Amino acid sequence: MTNIGILGLGHALPERKLTNHDLEKMVETSDEWIVTRTGIKERRVAQKDEKNSHLATAAAKEALKSAGLSADKVELIIVATISPDSHFPSVACLVQKAIGAKKAAAFDISAACSGFLYGVTTAKQFLASGTYKNALVIAAEKITNLIDWNDRSTCVLFGDGAGACVLGETKNGGGIIADYLHAQGQYGELMEVKVTEREPFDQESKITMLPYVVMQGQELFKIAVNSMAEAVEIAVKRAGLKLEDIDCVVPHQANDRIISAVAKKLKVSKDKIFINIQKYGNMSAASIAVALYEAEKEGVIKSGDHVALVTFGAGLVSAATIVKW
Ligand code: ACO
Repeated sequence: MTNIGILGLGHALPERKLTNHDLEKMVETSDEWIVTRTGIKERRVAQKDEKNSHLATAAAKEALKSAGLSADKVELIIVATISPDSHFPSVACLVQKAIGAKKAAAFDISAACSGFLYGVTTAKQFLASGTYKNALVIAAEKITNLIDWNDRSTCVLFGDGAGACVLGETKNGGGIIADYLHAQGQYGELMEVKVTEREPFDQESKITMLPYVVMQGQELFKIAVNSMAEAVEIAVKRAGLKLEDIDCVVPHQANDRIISAVAKKLKVSKDKIFINIQKYGNMSAASIAVALYEAEKEGVIKSGDHVALVTFGAGLVSAATIVKW
């Protein structure tokens, strides 16, 4: 059977940085509180005219370049996002136009912070079935658009960014060995952004609620730890491996304390876990894509390594993917 794996990675981050000290001037918070509770020191915030699709396109171009694939040969584009430019067209179609991938099918998926791994697993099925030869999977968020900047319990946590990968046949014996996707819809209310409901026949009806993130942090924390640990265990088992065989874990970067608790539960040493939350905060779907990009660039992940990718997000949705690099 053909090995399907990651042929190239890319990323894009807004230039504007927002530090904890900047936030101290905006809401009643402190650098000490944010660092102790989350591990975050700063995050990136896109400018008003810097759209999700711009970040997605920049990340896509870098991934294509690194894979040596020209845009006109791309057969499938999947964008994982919960903060698109518009309800429609999809970000995937906007990227398709921007890069000139005229042959490609393109669609978005909504799986919050697990979107990148949901996208990778979905694309892998198309490649494994022989429907397509390659796929561009992008995770892009302008989640700061969905933040109430007066709410200190959420505004300190999030940031914008994008990551991308090209999937295709690998020739070096590496590739995706196993994956696991799961959802627990019963916990959906723990984190949500409501759409604005309007009376269809009344053009004058007022928008009563703005579409901002509302979250029950402590409840999410507990479920995040259990779900991420369970996802890794199941995916590792499906890969025919043991936890000791994993060289590097790249987790979703929501909170450094969540990552520590997952490491403890799995009995995996924290120095095997890649963490960059201090620089970017929680970029939802884009977090793990950017973390994977940096882990590879910094030489933390090397050829032949077994890498466990694991995510958790609103929905609730969790996912894990085991890759031989
Ligand atoms: N600065 C200072 N104080 C704050 C802040 C802030 N930014 N935010 C809340 N507080 C206060 C609270 O009001 C509370 O005060 P009180 O004790 O007087 O009532 C106190 O700090 C403690 O608040 P808690 O909510 O209990 O703090 P906790 O230790 O649980 O940390 C946090 C909060 C960081 C949100 C944590 O619960 C967490 O990370 N949860 C998981 C959230 C998550 O992962 N979300 C995303 C998952 S899905 C996705 O990524 C799309």
